[in-house]
Amino acid sequence: MKAPPVTDLIRRRFSCRHYAGYPIAAEKQQALQTALTHLPPAPFGNQPRFCLITADENDNTALRGLGTYGFIRGATGFIIGASQTAPNHLEDFGYLMEWLILRATSLNLGTCWLGGTFTKSKFAQKIGLYSYETIPAVTAVGEFFTPQQARQGWISALAGSRHRLPWHLLFFERDFDHPLDEKQAGKYAIPLEMVRLAPSASNKQPWRVIKDRNHWHFYLQHTPGYRADPLKILLGLCDLQRLDMGIALCHFELTARESGLSGSWIIIPERQSPPGAQTRYTATWRIE
Ligand SMILES: Cc1cc2nc3c(=O)[nH]c(=O)nc-3n(C[C@H](O)[C@H](O)[C@H](O)COP(=O)(O)O)c2cc1C
Repeated sequence: MKAPPVTDLIRRRFSCRHYAGYPIAAEKQQALQTALTHLPPAPFGNQPRFCLITADENDNTALRGLGTYGFIRGATGFIIGASQTAPNHLEDFGYLMEWLILRATSLNLGTCWLGGTFTKSKFAQKIGLYSYETIPAVTAVGEFFTPQQARQGWISALAGSRHRLPWHLLFFERDFDHPLDEKQAGKYAIPLEMVRLAPSASNKQPWRVIKDRNHWHFYLQHTPGYRADPLKILLGLCDLQRLDMGIALCHFELTARESGLSGSWIIIPERQSPPGAQTRYTATWRIE
């Protein structure tokens, strides 16, 4: 069967927090397992590893102890990922986990990113975490609680209830003083719109993009106080907004390629931000 367009998958996806509670259909589990072993290269070349843990019919033991502090009900699967610290490893992790989420969406499964609300030590045991690795986030997966849920993402996107920032706050031309509208974005209007619809931690939407001739520069605008939140530090959370950037790169690249727009990710050293900067350069898509 032909895979649906990635723009459909991005519009359809939403954070599902209530699942049917029965095991994920065997053929979908198989397809997800296959996806885990056929990951695309990530933009910065890191290779985090991922595993899928699922409950079986009449046997929930695989998921025992995998807690989500009551935020998620009835999920019968989790994608767990482990990453080694290296430059841009969190962005690559975000990119690949989102790629897997879109694969799960194409299998008509619900998903929800979990960056904070999961019991780290139990998930660490499941993936056999090495001392040099961390688990930046996990993803809950499962069959939808009701068939109507499968359309929830579409409906809220159409009804405008997705609470996304408007274009003029996200996309710019040459510098941050000149907002870019859809007309000026030309063929790249759709890849940018897919960035706008991306999930982000606490829905903060920290991605900012500047167009400069044949370059699209991606920046992370850190939410003030977000990183320094004492609870986040206590829980040992990574900088979740860097995962958000990886998700944005994934949506942009997949949509651009699907639209026949070729390019590649590069890093322009002169754009690198000083350490601690609130607005941090991530990467540039160079049109080819
Ligand atoms: C990196 C990341 C971490 C997240 N962590 C959590 C979490 O711990 N708990 C939760 O319920 N949702 C979490 N979310 C889901 C966001 O709250 C959600 O993506 C955002 O509110 C937008 O809603 P949508 O995904 O339905 O479009 C996370 C999302 C991302 C991208």
